[in-house]
This record gives sequence, structure tokens and C-alpha cells, in this order.
Amino acid sequence: MAAKQQVECVKEGNYIRVPKGLVNVIVDETKISGVDPKGEATIYRGYTIEDIGEHASFYEATHLILYGRLPCDEELKEIKAKIDKYRGMVPEKIFDALKYVPATHPMYYGIYGVSLLGQYYAPDWRFDEDFLYDHALRVTAQLPVIFAAGWHLARNGTFYRPDPTKDHAWDVLRMIIGREPSEIEARAFESTLVLYMDHGFNASTFTVRVIASTLSDLYSAIAGGIAALKGPLHGGANEKAMEMFLEAQQKAEAKGVPLYEYIEEYIKEKLAKKEKIMGFGHRIYKLHDPRTDVAKKYVEKLKNGDYWMKVIKKAEEVMWNEKKIPANIDLYTGVLYYQLDIPIPMYTPIFAMGRVVGWSAHYIEQVLNNKLIRPTEKYVGPTGLKYVPLEERCKK
Ligand code: ACO
Repeated sequence: MAAKQQVECVKEGNYIRVPKGLVNVIVDETKISGVDPKGEATIYRGYTIEDIGEHASFYEATHLILYGRLPCDEELKEIKAKIDKYRGMVPEKIFDALKYVPATHPMYYGIYGVSLLGQYYAPDWRFDEDFLYDHALRVTAQLPVIFAAGWHLARNGTFYRPDPTKDHAWDVLRMIIGREPSEIEARAFESTLVLYMDHGFNASTFTVRVIASTLSDLYSAIAGGIAALKGPLHGGANEKAMEMFLEAQQKAEAKGVPLYEYIEEYIKEKLAKKEKIMGFGHRIYKLHDPRTDVAKKYVEKLKNGDYWMKVIKKAEEVMWNEKKIPANIDLYTGVLYYQLDIPIPMYTPIFAMGRVVGWSAHYIEQVLNNKLIRPTEKYVGPTGLKYVPLEERCKK
């Protein structure tokens, strides 16, 4: 029988043993984002995540997350000017390097490209605030260019150059899809970048904070964040959710029924096989993910919105009846990015293009009030073994 999972902290001598997966463990304080003390809403620097996701531009939200307040006129102009300028300043040699990457998952281009950026910007790394904030804006502006260029260069040997005269979200979407997006498409895309911007001590942000706590540079920390985000239990779920819908759609077509009628059977079959349904469930949101409310409004307005909302609603109904598990943001963004003609492997990189702002803010918060994050372990392996030379060790 499997051992009963420990759910509470237990004192063991001088140590505290915490639950596996750090479930319900508070590891530090942050003023950037998190669930409010009443446990009722997720907060970005005092505002609800849905308020900012629905109303703020990418520049406003970036200012809020990084500096702690929504910008006034001059501040907004300044942050916009910097992000747009830096977007056009990716070192040319990084594009040259990206010409030689294989056509694999583009999250690798982010990990690779951001460490190349670090080789330009980080050798003389410092911890004064102006320097840190300036690099937060550089990496925020340049990471999307690297992802988009890597994607196209690896596949077509050419790419869409950034246009610093354009709005960040519009320009990034254009570089990904290779056409000029409409106003509503650009705003839908921008809103998801804002919704993804930060989310407390999630796995990738915690990774960034661990790396920051060693006083490594921001670019190295962001490379770690991208690596953590890549996993299907975290950012990778938006791709998996859409792949699931497309697989189900094929099966529905073979049966001659619309997907919104077939999805119930498809989900129930998967649940019967004990498979997870991607785009559902969350460590914190057990009843409802508020980010889905904002994303839903855009899914409704984009291409085939009615059709996709019928599919999502049915899937949500089935998962609630069967498992009492709500949809998460990745179910909605998976569909929304599909409506924008974005190639599926670029969905998780887009998550990173928003989250890079939160990672940078957490990096700065950590290094400005630092304590090396280094837990201890409970060793449960054997002891007392003695080295035996090879010739004696493997005698039959
Ligand atoms: N489909 C089916 N069952 C599920 C799902 C799901 N999506 N999510 C949770 N469950 C079940 C588990 O099987 C488990 O059942 P059991 O107690 O019978 O074993 C129970 O619910 C608890 O699930 P855990 O995975 O232990 O919950 P945890 O809080 O650790 O996990 C997680 C949260 C990892 C997000 C999980 O819900 C999951 O794997 N979801 C699918 C992946 C996904 O959509 N990730 C995106 C998260 S949002 C984001 O990163 C922006």
C-alpha cells in the first residue's frame, strides 16, 4: 500500500519537514502578486488580476508589476519608449546563432537565446536598482524577439524583424504569425500576456528566486524560469490542451458529430484511463481560475468564437460533474492562440513572454533582500558502505 502522503509540517529535531511538493508551505513574503489574505482573489500589486488583465496595456501592467504602481503619462511614455527601443536591439550575432538551431521545441530557443543575451549583458553584473530595472526591461523586450526569430529561422532560414515604431504586443504577434494582426487580435494577445505576467510563487518563479538567491545574474535566472515553465504540469499545458481538442475534433469528425457533442465521451474515456485532462486543475484555484473570465471574453470575439465556447463550456461541465475540477487559464489561451493562427509549439513561449516581467520583478525583490535559498534533505539511503576496487567488486 502506498505510504500516506504527509500534509502538514512536522518538527524533526532542529528541522521542519514540509509536505512533498511544498504544498501549502509559505516560503517567503512578496509584494508583487499572490492570493489576497482573505483567500478570495489573486492580486497584482493591489489590483485583482482580472481588473488588470481586462483593462491594462502591456506597458501599464509591466510598470505595475516591476515598479509597484500604474504609470502616469510621463512614466508610461518612458517605459513604452524603452521596451520598444530594446525590442529592436537584439544583438545581430544572436540571430546568426539562431540560424543553426534545429527545428525542435521553441522553448529551447528561449533558454539558449536568453543565455546568449546574458553573455552580452551580464559579465559585469551589478545589483544597483537602476541597472537591475534597465535589464528587466531589456529581457522583457528581447525575449519575444528571440522566440519568434528562433521559430522562423529554424524552419525557414529567415525571420520577421522587430519594428520599434509599433506597439509591443502587436509587433510580437506579427513576428510570430508573419502577418499584421487586427486590433482585436492584438488586444486579445496582449491581454493574455498581462494575465500570464505573474502568479505568486509558482514553479518557474520559485526557480527564478532560487537562482537569484545565489546572486547569479538575471539572464541566468530567466533561463532557469523558462526551463521550469516548459513542463506540461506548468506552462506546457496550453499546448497540450489544444492538442487534446484537435485530437478529439478528428475523432468527432470520423463519427460525423460536432466536437461539442463528442467532447463528453472523449473526456470520460480519458478519465476512465486515469489520464489527466490538460487545461484543468490548479494548485491554488480549486473552484475557479479568475483569469479564465478575461480570456473567455476574447475567445468569444475571435474567429469561430461561438463554436469554441460551446466546446469549452461542455468540457468544463463534464470535468465539474465528474471530478469537481475547474478549467485553468491554459485551456482558454490554448484555444485563443489557435484562433490567432499561432503554431501550437509557440503557446508556451508566449506564456514566457508575459511571465518574464514577473520573473524579473521577483529576481529584483529577491536580490534586494536576499537570503540564499538552500533547504536541507532527509537522507534515507544506505550508510556505512566501503569502496571496493573494481576487480573485486564485480567478481561473480
Ligand atoms: N485531470 C484529471 N484529474 C486531475 C486533473 C486533471 N487536469 N488535475 C488534478 N486531477 C486529479 C488528480 O489526478 C488527483 O486525483 P487523486 O487525488 O485521485 O490522485 C487530484 O485531482 C489532485 O491532483 P494533483 O495533481 O495532486 O493536484 P495538484 O494541486 O498537485 O496539481 C496540477 C495541480 C498539476 C495543475 C494538476 O491539476 C494538473 O496536472 N493539471 C493538468 C495540467 C495543467 O493544466 N496545468 C496548468 C496549470 S495552470 C498554469 O500553469 C498556468
